[in-house]
Amino acid sequence: MASEFLFEFEIKDKDIAARICKLKINGKELETPSLMPVYNPNKPLITPKEMKREFGCEILMANSYIILKNEELRNNILRDGIHKFMNFNGIIATDSGSYQLMEYGNITATNKEIIEFQEKIGSDIGSFLDIPTLPNAYKPRALEQLKITLERAREARNAKFLVNAGIQGSTYLDLREMAAREIGREFRLCAVGGIVRLMENYRFSDLVEIISVIKRNIPINRVVHAFGMGHPMAFSLSIALGCDLFDSAAYALYAENFRYITASGTKRLDELEYLPCSCPVCSKYGLELKELPERERVRELARHNLYVSFEEINKIKEAIKENNLWEFLGMRCRAHPELLSGLKRLTEQKWLADLDPITKKSAFYLQGPESKNRTEVVNVKKRLKRVYSENRREVAPFGKIPAEISDVYPFNSFNSLREWGKKKNENKIEYKISDIEKIRKIMDYQFGSGAGELIADNVRIKRSRKTKRIRWIYEEKELIASVRASDHFIIPKMPLAEKLHKRFKYPKLRVVIHDDAIPFVLEGKSVFAKFVEEIDPKLRARDEVLIVDKNDKLLRTGTLILSPREVVDFDRGIAVRVR
Ligand code: GUN
Ligand code: ZN
Repeated sequence: MASEFLFEFEIKDKDIAARICKLKINGKELETPSLMPVYNPNKPLITPKEMKREFGCEILMANSYIILKNEELRNNILRDGIHKFMNFNGIIATDSGSYQLMEYGNITATNKEIIEFQEKIGSDIGSFLDIPTLPNAYKPRALEQLKITLERAREARNAKFLVNAGIQGSTYLDLREMAAREIGREFRLCAVGGIVRLMENYRFSDLVEIISVIKRNIPINRVVHAFGMGHPMAFSLSIALGCDLFDSAAYALYAENFRYITASGTKRLDELEYLPCSCPVCSKYGLELKELPERERVRELARHNLYVSFEEINKIKEAIKENNLWEFLGMRCRAHPELLSGLKRLTEQKWLADLDPITKKSAFYLQGPESKNRTEVVNVKKRLKRVYSENRREVAPFGKIPAEISDVYPFNSFNSLREWGKKKNENKIEYKISDIEKIRKIMDYQFGSGAGELIADNVRIKRSRKTKRIRWIYEEKELIASVRASDHFIIPKMPLAEKLHKRFKYPKLRVVIHDDAIPFVLEGKSVFAKFVEEIDPKLRARDEVLIVDKNDKLLRTGTLILSPREVVDFDRGIAVRVR
């Protein structure tokens, strides 16, 4: 691994492949997904101080090549360091001049010079001079440029900053895969490069494919930056795929052309007759924004553009927390046909299902044809094969489900799962099903075929006095499991966990922990990802699991917080919450 400096990255919350993470660089903390506004000291529109005060901005980006090529700027920044010069104590990322390379065809500095310069000015995050090959370039040329990019990446391996390592390869997925494997092995911050043109041309399905192939081929604990993606239209799709950082020069570039950004597209300010926004700028000026003197108009427009960009990130984070990111995407992607194609391409990405939590805080809303291929449907259909039942009930989009498990997430979203135009409870067949049969089928569904047999005929099932729903399962006087009210998942206590442990052989349902973590687990403390030695790959985030030592001795039960792939790759953060 590349040079050592302070770096921490851990998952706090998740939905689909999206994650809310804590990122710490050089002692400075940031929550991702996050937007890095680009600051150009030659054209200061909004100062770094304003970005922090007004927008809560903790990270920004500047272009080291522009600084290097301006003698006065260069000398000032070399003298003061970039943080002092910009009067900003957050995280400062710098780019290398690759963008200028893309726009003008050549630049006058070498990779080594640019890397050394970023070290000297004290960038927290820096870039090497990757070559952003254009989409649909002649393939031999894309390969040749990629080889140069990878060579330049090697020159940056020991840089004194966190390297923002560009992954190139144009629209060729095999080249992207090769680049992702090599870059992903060496660098902790991987950047999806060469996508500005795709964005400008609304080629969102190509974008989805490129981000997907990269995410599948780098370790899942790498921070992922979508290079030059500054338009909020594409934030939700990219975040759903697991992008963590965005940089926006768009807020300023669009403002210079009097263009007004919204989360669903761009408008021309002079054509607007109503303002679709209530940010401080739009509230203050209303349509008089159009009449401001030119310089002020550009600045105020840039502020509005930045407000809506930050707002979109916050809305997406809230959707991750509430676990309704799919619903958010369904809404956003109906703003433009190309976004909808992007969403369709997203539902074709089967790798997403492995990362998606098995139970969620929000109901499943059937929004349209794409809902039928959501990650939850993929995961549920696999688990439905575990359950045999003669009492079947049609629940779109999952097909015929055992009526016994109707109260389990996501089938309990029954009213939200009606097909277009059907009435509430239309065609709902009523079966007479005993509580014990319900519990047995939920056991099969949750843990595997045969788990239901672990529930003996003489168990006592108690219902909540308030809600009248099944809540507790006793064997003799002993509580062996509870049933969670929100999603009807079974939470096994030790007696039932022991039966599961006997019935299902290693490594099924298990999280194997390191000896050092045993005393903590026995005290009921959480298992951190770095102490997990092995995990059943069929588990999903939020599953109930068996925690065992390396001799397969059962220690405790707990709730898995991350997906198996995340548990394996991350060495920070909570993997299992112990009961
Ligand atoms: N800015 C926009 N796209 C890119 C890219 O692919 N690489 C770098 N370094 N900067 C960019
Ligand atoms: Zn506004």
